[in-house]
Amino acid sequence: PIVPVILSGGSGTRLWPMSTSDRPKQMLPLTADQTMLQLTALRAVGDRFACPIVVANVRHLDMIDSQLSAIGCRPESVILEPLGRNTAPAIALAALCASDSAAPLLVMPSDHVIHDVSAFHAAIEAARPMVEEGWLVTFGITPDAPETGYGYIKVGTPVAEGVHRVDRFVEKPPRDVAEAMLASGDHVWNGGIFLFRADAYLDALARFEPAMLDAVRRSLAEGERSGPHIRPAAQAFADAPNQSIDYAVMEKSDQVAVVPVAMGWNDVGSWDALHSISTCDEAGNAIRGEVIALDSSNCMVRTDGARIAMVGVKDLIVVASGNDILILPRGRSQEVKSLLEAMQNR
Ligand code: GDD
Ligand code: MG
Repeated sequence: PIVPVILSGGSGTRLWPMSTSDRPKQMLPLTADQTMLQLTALRAVGDRFACPIVVANVRHLDMIDSQLSAIGCRPESVILEPLGRNTAPAIALAALCASDSAAPLLVMPSDHVIHDVSAFHAAIEAARPMVEEGWLVTFGITPDAPETGYGYIKVGTPVAEGVHRVDRFVEKPPRDVAEAMLASGDHVWNGGIFLFRADAYLDALARFEPAMLDAVRRSLAEGERSGPHIRPAAQAFADAPNQSIDYAVMEKSDQVAVVPVAMGWNDVGSWDALHSISTCDEAGNAIRGEVIALDSSNCMVRTDGARIAMVGVKDLIVVASGNDILILPRGRSQEVKSLLEAMQNR
């Protein structure tokens, strides 16, 4: 069966004040009653899947254990990173810990929304024959804006039913390049979800990032294990270069394929993104928590405690969490990152 690998190491700073380093966005119930981590785990259950391997920061251990056990998920391993070294080393940990090195790994970020899970599963099945042969497969999303925060893939010739060769992989292009790729009509976004055999990924790392593979191997050899919990040694793991899988492997390998799939995918990266997928009332407001909104429209308002009352406003994002309140016009939620930096420098 396929081994789900759930990456849960991101910090989700653009969703402050709800998302914080103590409780980043994947641990929050942002889109449903379940947290994003729980929704991710629930997306990969059933006959074709084994128990997942979760890779996360050690400080979130208790939250991860309790959220997974609450949905009846018993992970094969929870790998606890002493520090974040980005996705390439995190996936290397999982690939080295997988009990069967020929097993296909389904690498999933823990902070995405996928509405059509059966379309996702169908795409996985389409990818499988190429994966068996050692290809690295990613899933492609039809772009609808020149986003600069995603990877772009030029879709090449078909290599199997529903599976295409990747002609080119461009991670996080500048605006003008993104616009050109959007206009071309033959590019898709990289969904950040990957399927490959553990040994195929490790072979690619041995070729393109041998020092990374060596550092990750040492961190496991010098680390500790108790039950499902694996603790790589900090010093060795810190030697791994800080690199994403996209830059370290996907851009370099020539055995890379893409399965384009329409599955209602959204990388819930900002408050605007969350608003765009929320259910709104007749006035276009997406409200969660104790909020009274009179004569107000197209606002996104969320609170986990404080009562919010508003009158006569439109197109605002208002988020209250604990002692923190965020207010900004819709369309500017990418700037939350700079806002946080400004706050830290005060
Ligand atoms: N365990 C672990 N350790 N997980 C990590 C780490 C780490 O050091 N760094 C990131 N992650 C997790 C994040 O929590 C997230 O779930 C996932 O890995 C992807 O990392 P991001 O940091 O969110 O990547 P990105 O959004 O900049 O770019 C990737 O995703 C895009 C789609 O959302 C790339 O794959 C892009 O090409 C892609 O378009
Ligand atoms: Mg992301």
